[in-house]
Amino acid sequence: MNRITKLFNIKYPIIQGGMIWNSGYKLASAVSNAGGLGLIGAGSMYPDVLREHIQKCKKAADRSFGVNIPMLYPNIEEIMNIVVEEDVKIVFTSAGNPKTWTSFLKEKGITVVHVVSSSVFALKAQEAGVDAIVAEGFEAGGHNGRDETTTLTLIPMVKEKIQIPIIAAGGIATGRGMLAAMVLGADGVQVGSRFAASIESSAHNNFKQTIVNIKEGDTQLTLKELAPVRLVKNKFYNDVQALYEKCPSKEDLIELLGRARAKKGMFEGDLEEGELEIGQIAGLIHEILPVEQIVQEMIADFKAAREEKATFEF
Ligand SMILES: Cc1cc2nc3c(=O)[nH]c(=O)nc-3n(C[C@H](O)[C@H](O)[C@H](O)COP(=O)(O)O)c2cc1C
Repeated sequence: MNRITKLFNIKYPIIQGGMIWNSGYKLASAVSNAGGLGLIGAGSMYPDVLREHIQKCKKAADRSFGVNIPMLYPNIEEIMNIVVEEDVKIVFTSAGNPKTWTSFLKEKGITVVHVVSSSVFALKAQEAGVDAIVAEGFEAGGHNGRDETTTLTLIPMVKEKIQIPIIAAGGIATGRGMLAAMVLGADGVQVGSRFAASIESSAHNNFKQTIVNIKEGDTQLTLKELAPVRLVKNKFYNDVQALYEKCPSKEDLIELLGRARAKKGMFEGDLEEGELEIGQIAGLIHEILPVEQIVQEMIADFKAAREEKATFEF
């Protein structure tokens, strides 16, 4: 047991990050049943869809699960009311100010975790009263911090500043990565990309195949003027780069992005025109596997790595 397994009442300190278009109730319940903490990604769901996924997750999961709510999307008030009405016990908030919703959720008895990309934001989240933070490095898939601080740097810096439990995210897909993050000061890890390429992920198979085929260097953080996001370098990404050469205004970028690009890419499988969000660590993901196997391999790898290092002498 440690602070994270105790906080969520789970076996392994592995959290599956909320991921738009990837993490519906099937993925979340599979991770929870495998001994980690699964999160439904509310960011790509209309309120009634979210309610349906929560209800299905309650039936499918025998253990704790939670909901990730990126605060940059509309209908936030409605979404917050749904998690309360549906008696969700754990909420991870991201992409917004932790002060806005933490006390509302805490008053309802909900465990609240907030995602940050710097130690300054980690302190703000601690002050807002959250139970734990996710410290997410620049390697991570999806939306990201502007400062480009890597997980290796971020975790010890956050650890120096805050007292509440820390969950490391960004670049972790193996037990070795998990051990490294925990040695640096994390109490647990949040894994995104590795679970996006699982059988239970709701992503389109074209996207899952892309994840297992891409190599080191095939992703890049872009669109910093809007909300920085790490993308696969596909046609849409190249269109964004071509526009940058013309010194575009923010409005030009918004126009190119248009609507529903992420859905088009990750959910509908349009590999050219869609936005494909994935982390740098995708270069190390070679197979689409069931969640149970991913978790078991991570735990076995963690134990092997810990033993290997324990016998090392100077
Ligand atoms: C496809 C995709 C979608 C994501 N969507 C969200 C989201 O909706 N909300 C959020 O807080 N983080 C989101 N993330 C970030 C993950 O929750 C997680 O923190 C991150 O993937 C960890 O880094 P890794 O990809 O290197 O494992 C997303 C990541 C990916 C890959």
